[in-house]
Amino acid sequence: THQWRGIIEEYRDRLPVSDTTPVVTLREGGTPLVPAQVLSERTGCEVHLKVEGANPTGSFKDRGMTMAISKAKEEGAKAVICASTGNTSASAAAYAVRAGMVSAVLVPQGKIALGKMGQALVHGAKILQVDGNFDDCLTLARSLSENYPVALVNSVNPVRIEGQKTAAFEIVDMLGDAPDIHVLPVGNAGNITAYWKGYQEYAADKIATRTPRMWGFQAAGSAPIVRGEVVKDPSTIATAIRIGNPASWQYALAARDESGGAIDEVTDREILRAYRLLAAQEGVFVEPASAASVAGLLKAAEQGKVDPGQRIVCTVTGNGLKDPDWAVAGAPQPVTVPVDAATAAERLGLA
Ligand code: F0G
Repeated sequence: THQWRGIIEEYRDRLPVSDTTPVVTLREGGTPLVPAQVLSERTGCEVHLKVEGANPTGSFKDRGMTMAISKAKEEGAKAVICASTGNTSASAAAYAVRAGMVSAVLVPQGKIALGKMGQALVHGAKILQVDGNFDDCLTLARSLSENYPVALVNSVNPVRIEGQKTAAFEIVDMLGDAPDIHVLPVGNAGNITAYWKGYQEYAADKIATRTPRMWGFQAAGSAPIVRGEVVKDPSTIATAIRIGNPASWQYALAARDESGGAIDEVTDREILRAYRLLAAQEGVFVEPASAASVAGLLKAAEQGKVDPGQRIVCTVTGNGLKDPDWAVAGAPQPVTVPVDAATAAERLGLA
């Protein structure tokens, strides 16, 4: 009769909430940590996948959103706003419904996956498609939140980071200590910031004996942190991380440097290869951006940068159903058969 209560109740003493904070939750968090057999074989390591697509709206954003919406409600906000490449808007829209609040979302015109757009629509968000990229959307969202009665729930809101750090807690709670390396995709750089904060807090309180090296991967066409300069016109098929000027840039550099980690880039081709491997060989369907972590791990292994025997966790950030175009594209069309067992058996290669 016990179910996971959501990250605020499960980690209440580590989050900036009080007894009077209204907890707005869809029971996010408590996501599976799945041993990755093929990736372990390929790297000679013990690789696990933190499957964040199992969250209520299908991405890790729910961890931050339960905090952001709960705090906004506590402060009396009636409306929230965010800029998004899709997942933040889906999450904000759902949690705003739970809170009885209005949500407004700004998305880059034509550059968000259909599933995510559908989520924002069905949850009743007020959506504006902005004639610009994510970075433009964020500038606009910040400006609106400063000048109008609407609370900003992007990860520049520090309580978002507080919520998202709980993923690191869950990993240590499950494994008994921090892994050697933690790998994740980097877009606006909030999540790498959050994991690093979570790992550091557990190490400081001696719940973990160490912190992992943080390895972040950007898409090659949208890799400002790797290049060391803003990318004016970011491009990648991984629309979730199509970001040219990450808000948490400096925190990502701190996570990299303080952890002895790295931030590198992976091409769209490498992302799609990892995307297909995860689905076809690990049984885990993620969206393209999520596969950037695994693509990065495979790239590093091929470059001889992964010593065998290590324990590695890759966060896969979002559910594959959000953006199934790449699953269908390039796959053979299913053949049509009559209602006839012999024909079906033959076509299935059973006969
Ligand atoms: N993976 C997915 C599936 C995402 O949606 C995002 C970010 C990231 C990775 C990168 O995380 O920004 O914390 O470095 N999506 C944001 C959004 C930008 O609007 O949904 P990050």
